[in-house]
Amino acid sequence: MSGTTSAAPTAPLDATLLEKVEGALARFLEDAEIPGNLRAACLHAVLAGGKRLRPILVLESALAAGGTADDAMPAAIAIEFVHAFSLVHDDLPALDNDSMRRGKPTCHVAFGEAMAILAGDCLLALAPVAASRAHHNVAEIQRELMSGTVRMIAGQVYDTLQGFPEGLPPARQVELVHHNKTGALLEASCRMGALAANANPAALDGLTRYGRATGLMFQIVDDLIDATQTAEHAGKATGKDAEAGKLTYPGVHGIEGSRREIARLRAEAESGLATLGARAERLRALLDFLATRTR
Ligand code: IPE
Ligand code: IPE
Ligand code: MG
Ligand code: MG
Ligand code: MG
Repeated sequence: MSGTTSAAPTAPLDATLLEKVEGALARFLEDAEIPGNLRAACLHAVLAGGKRLRPILVLESALAAGGTADDAMPAAIAIEFVHAFSLVHDDLPALDNDSMRRGKPTCHVAFGEAMAILAGDCLLALAPVAASRAHHNVAEIQRELMSGTVRMIAGQVYDTLQGFPEGLPPARQVELVHHNKTGALLEASCRMGALAANANPAALDGLTRYGRATGLMFQIVDDLIDATQTAEHAGKATGKDAEAGKLTYPGVHGIEGSRREIARLRAEAESGLATLGARAERLRALLDFLATRTR
């Protein structure tokens, strides 16, 4: 991750699954009973780019646990609605004050601050409605979704407004921020996929360990992207974390220390997949991509 643009790995995301996710997201928003201007802001927040990592984690976790993508699609789009809400609010002037997201104007730049706040609220509220269409374990899936969301919000508070337990050293503080603000939704994605597939306890446990380690690793990589990549390449402003005095892994552990932590978490995530065997091959490939991505 040297700041060059040539080494960007390609996501090993199944094109058919991605297409199904895009279609399901668009259909759900088109069908929602909301005013046209709110729909336009929600469509911008959800459909204007994005890797769809969380829905893919839901679907691949369901497949790894022996389920089907159709069973897991309601949970997959639900978590992407929460993610889109989190980004719209994260970019607001009161939080990170960013004007570019996914290479396009942020929601509040395109639609104004009031609409961005309300579009975020709307996406958050649509998420459990989407999840209610799951075929198995609806209540458990919704509980994962909303508990993960609460942890994400707690993480945003630690990130922005502090509130850490007294005496917590900086290395534990940054771990707490990252486990919550980003790790929580990735862990929830894997657990929701397992629940949608009616996974056995061993598979649920393995996918939880994979999701938890992958989630923390994902935000460390995001910190490295902020510290080492250009905005043109990343599709969002970079170099801002240090400027804003944010607690980051490169700030606390240095670039090399962050890379060592990524390697450790990658091995930990991999070990969570051991009991799932060959069915988890795509989750292993995804882990590889997530550890080395540059945008
Ligand atoms: C960005 O998440 C916010 C973080 C949690 C670091 P992604 O990198 O998954 O964003 P998109 O959806 O692909 O734009
Ligand atoms: C994002 O953290 C966490 C969220 C809950 C949205 P960042 O603030 O680092 O995400 P980016 O870099 O703006 O995507
Ligand atoms: Mg932020
Ligand atoms: Mg941000
Ligand atoms: Mg960031």
